[in-house]
Parts: sequence; C-alpha cells; structure tokens
Amino acid sequence: MSRQIRLNAFTMNCVVHLAPGQWTAESDRSTGYLDTGHWVDLAKLLERGRFDSLFLGDITGIYDVAGGSAEMALRTAAQVPMNDPAPLIPLMAHATEHLGFGVTLSVSYEHPYPLARRLTTLDHLSKGRVAWNIVTSYLDSGARSLGLDALVEHDARYDRADEFLDVCYALWEGGWEDGAVVRDREAGVYGDPARIHRVRHDGEHFRTDGVFQCEPSPQRTPLLFQAGGSDRGTRFAARHAECIFVGAPTPAGLRRTVDRLRDALRDAGRDPASVRIFAMFTVIVDETEALAKARHDAYRARVSYDGALALLSGWTGIDLSRYAPDDTLAYVDTNAGQSALASFSKLDPSRTWTVRDAVEFVGIGGRGGVAVGDPRQVADTLEAWMDETGVDGFNLASVEMPRTFEDIVAHLVPELQRRGVYKTEYADGTLREKLTGTEAQPASATLQAPHVGAAFRRHT
Ligand SMILES: Cc1cc2nc3c(=O)[nH]c(=O)nc-3n(C[C@H](O)[C@H](O)[C@H](O)COP(=O)(O)O)c2cc1C
Repeated sequence: MSRQIRLNAFTMNCVVHLAPGQWTAESDRSTGYLDTGHWVDLAKLLERGRFDSLFLGDITGIYDVAGGSAEMALRTAAQVPMNDPAPLIPLMAHATEHLGFGVTLSVSYEHPYPLARRLTTLDHLSKGRVAWNIVTSYLDSGARSLGLDALVEHDARYDRADEFLDVCYALWEGGWEDGAVVRDREAGVYGDPARIHRVRHDGEHFRTDGVFQCEPSPQRTPLLFQAGGSDRGTRFAARHAECIFVGAPTPAGLRRTVDRLRDALRDAGRDPASVRIFAMFTVIVDETEALAKARHDAYRARVSYDGALALLSGWTGIDLSRYAPDDTLAYVDTNAGQSALASFSKLDPSRTWTVRDAVEFVGIGGRGGVAVGDPRQVADTLEAWMDETGVDGFNLASVEMPRTFEDIVAHLVPELQRRGVYKTEYADGTLREKLTGTEAQPASATLQAPHVGAAFRRHT
C-alpha cells in the first residue's frame, strides 16, 4: 500500500484556539463551544471524514505576557475563556464508533494518581480511543493560579514529568495483571486479589502506596502524545511518546525538527519509524482555487492582531508588544516554550521574520503551515510537505468553525482517497492499534517493549 496520510483535527474547548478574530463573523460557530451538540456534531463530521482523532489542546493559565496583563487576551478571547476538555470526550465517544480523542493534561500541577484515574475512566468509556497529550505547561500565570510563585524552570519541568510518567506506568501497567478481573457471577468474585498489586513509589517529586482504584482499560496506558520540541523536550519525547506533535511554518524548519526527533528515538533504542509525527497545519479548501483564495483573504482581514500577539507572546514568554512591528525576531532561551520562538528564528535560517510577520502568520492556524486552494492543490501541498519533512500526517486546525472541517471532509478527503493515500474505512481496534505499528512490530492494544512503560507490566 502507498504511504498513508494521517489526519487529526486540532481544537480546544474555547472560542479562540488558533484563529483570533474569526469568531466575530456571522457564519462562525466557535461560540457554540458551550453546547453539547456543538461537540457531538463535530465528532460525527470528523468520523465521516475518517479522521484518526479529534485532538483537544488545553492550557493552565491565561496569556498575560503581552503588555504585561491579560487585557489583550480577555478582550479578544485568545484561549480564554477555556473550559476543561476531558468532559467532552464521553459525549463524543457515545456518538461515534472509531474516532479517537486526544486530550491535553498537564503533569505540572497535580499528583499522577488522580490524572491516571481520569484517563483510565475516559479510556473505558471510549472503548480504548483515548490519547494523552503530555504537557508540562508554559504559562507563569498558570503556576501562580495553582499556588506556586512562578513556573518551575524549563528543564526541571521535564525531569518532574519523567517521574510523573513512571508513577502512571506503575499504576496502569503494574497494578492489575491481565486476568485480575474475574467477573465470575456464580462464584460472586469480581477481582482476584492475588493478581492486583499494591503500587509503591517513593521518588523525588511523588509518593504513592496503594492499590490503583481502576480496573485496566482497553489500552491500559492511553496512547501517548507529546509536543515539546526543545532539547530536553525532545529527549522526553524519545522516551515516552508514541505520537509527536510538531509545528513550524516552513518545511525546512519542520524537517530539522523531525530529523532531530527520529535521531533521538534511535538514541533511545526505539525504532524511529514506530513513532507517528504530526505537523500542525491549516487547510483552506474549496471547489475552486478562486473560492478558497477569496475566503483566505476574508479570514486574513478578520485576524485580530492583538489576539495573535497575545498568543505568540504567551508561547514564547516574550512581551512582543515592547518591540516595533518591523523588528526581527531572534532566538533566545526562555522559560516558556522554547520551540515556538525557534520556529520563527533558528530552525529555518533561510527566512527571517519580523514581529509583524510572525504575529500575522500565527493569526491563522498558529505556527504551522497553511495550504489554500482547490482539492488537488491542497492535496499536492500536503503530499509535498510529507515528502520534504518526513511527517506521518497533520493536526489540522480550524479557521472557521465548523466550516474548515466541513470543507476538508467534502473536498479534500475524497481527493486524498482517490489518490489512494487516505483510508476509506477505519481499521478495527483501539486508537493505539489504529495509529501505530510497523512491519517489524505490528500494532497492539497495549504498550509493548521496547517502550519504557511495558517494563512496568506485572505477571505472576
Ligand atoms: C504543535 C504544538 C501544540 C501544543 N499544544 C499544547 C497544548 O495544547 N497545551 C500546552 O500546555 N502546551 C502545548 N504545546 C506546548 C508544548 O507542550 C510545550 O510545553 C512547549 O512547546 C514547551 O516545551 P519545549 O520548550 O520543549 O518546546 C504545544 C506545542 C506544539 C509544538
């Protein structure tokens, strides 16, 4: 079979995810995020389009870096207000059969035990269709809201995250053996205590000692996504991630990120091809190029510069309102997200970005690439990015909700299917079985060696 393009939809439980200003249009439905029907309809639409998953980003805190206050973000709804993504999943899972659900949960503000329990519950209710996007959080405002003086130092956040994952693996993989759930009505025995183990961990950041409250879900450990692209983030990804989410505005910048990730996977003793890499991307597609371009022009005219400035300042940790719009962006290490600034500077030295260029760029789809055109043009662009960068697929953001996804399902998906590069039916099984696996190591519902988590499995 020819190479397959994987597609996830990328959004957040809020009004403005990556398209500040668009909610003001009459035709836009982003403000419907408070309605259950909004999410159920979206999930059904994506399943019709054979998307692998709906990927829900999330942040802890608000964007108060630009101008030194939250004013710009609050006025423009730049990722605030923002509701909790996890409760959306059972709603959407109930209305679909195959679509996966990625949920972003931060490891920086809670103990692993309740987070592991929440994900196990979601994996049960979705019958094994949940992925966890592991983030360490990058907003100082979030740290202060959660009672810390400031954000923990960048690399130390990942050290803590490594230990967090070890506790989760111990709970998910090491607590209940296969066969521990007997469910024998006649004997009146549900669980076999001999196969259910106390989990003990006494580490630098976390302690736990007890039986995990949940029986194993179909995937045990949910499919693991990760998105940090700094040096330390890349090492973390190489140890834990089964899918990696990257974002860069040019193919050259993305190629460097992908190469670094695949090298790091090899260094960590894992098959670089066993991990699926997805690029953040935006598609504006219509029946004709002229129609798509006209819509793109209308979207560009509607971008909220302040909203985009608030987002980019929050991602980079730099108050970009203090610079003139024509100043050139240069890379500096910051304690927020390091890869966001890198993608507009050192990742692709062939292109320099002014503050204005970068702000206007992120106003439509964040820091990923953008393709505008008729179905053939957009399919050509996606295939070219796959060839040039080595990614396995795309996390597609919306500009106009839900029109962006409706157009993709109506126009782009049939074109990709006609080319034989996109599935016409879902594979059976859990999200891990649908998304991972290589010729050398076929996919399975649960983690397998050499993934670090598999070593936590208990057998008697
Ligand atoms: C494409 C992409 C999407 C991301 N989505 C989220 C998100 O939803 N929530 C979050 O807290 N961080 C998100 N991040 C940020 C990363 O998880 C990470 O915190 C950030 O990139 C800083 O880590 P780094 O310095 O290793 O890049 C995203 C990053 C990328 C590249």
